[in-house]
Amino acid sequence: MEWVTEKLTGHVGAILTGQQLNSLTDAGFNGLRNALFEHGVVVMPDQYLDPEAHIDLAKRFGEIDVNRFFNPVDGYLEIAEVRTKPEMTQVIGGTWHSDHSYDPAPAMCSILSARALPPYGGDTQFASMVAAADALSPGLRRMLEGLRACHTDASFGQSKVGLGGEPTAHREPVFHPVLIRHPQTEVQALYVNGDFTTHFEGWSAEESAPLLDYLYRFATQPVFTCRVRWAPGMVAIWDNRLVQHYATADYSGHARLMHRITVAGQPLN
Ligand code: SIN
Repeated sequence: MEWVTEKLTGHVGAILTGQQLNSLTDAGFNGLRNALFEHGVVVMPDQYLDPEAHIDLAKRFGEIDVNRFFNPVDGYLEIAEVRTKPEMTQVIGGTWHSDHSYDPAPAMCSILSARALPPYGGDTQFASMVAAADALSPGLRRMLEGLRACHTDASFGQSKVGLGGEPTAHREPVFHPVLIRHPQTEVQALYVNGDFTTHFEGWSAEESAPLLDYLYRFATQPVFTCRVRWAPGMVAIWDNRLVQHYATADYSGHARLMHRITVAGQPLN
């Protein structure tokens, strides 16, 4: 059985149907991984993964990279809880970002499984950093190719969504190229994000801000995006080197619970 693939938009995202994630053959898993690298984010409806199956799937991609700021799911340290309580006005991941960019070897992918959904809203939006890199003018691309940017986990210290409570979890800032090559496919992608990037190497934060702000706006313009509308049992997997994502906080007064596992990546060049 092959995956049936339906593209979500011109630049990013695909819905995959026809197979169950908890019983994938090696060929099925290879098809899933290739689709992830091709589309940046893949969405699989009607999967209803339990925690064990979620962990087993993640381990097929690589070692699990346990997030040091999120609360774990009861009994499963490997799974981060992405919970919105009805009284919360902000949500986890409610601004454009790439998971774990503050680490020396940022997470390769994140696997998000819907557990309890609000009656409406709570979509996750994705933006293709490949399409953004591709659309840069040759002059700006040449300049960015010579730059690295600093990423830090400091923003968790100001979190209003119940993350970052443990001060010893914070680590030293790291530098990554502004334009990276994907470790497996070597496609070029823009790799700066508003949550964790602070400045360009050798530039002050003040000097960096106008160009970084321009890049954040440029990279997340609607033409580079897709929107995942969640349904019960749905699972989405995204490659953090290829896309940024944004959790939409438009369901005030309602609860939402997702389970997330991040898979270890490698240093970026
Ligand atoms: C995240 O940023 O990983 C959370 C995404 C979501 O809850 O939609």
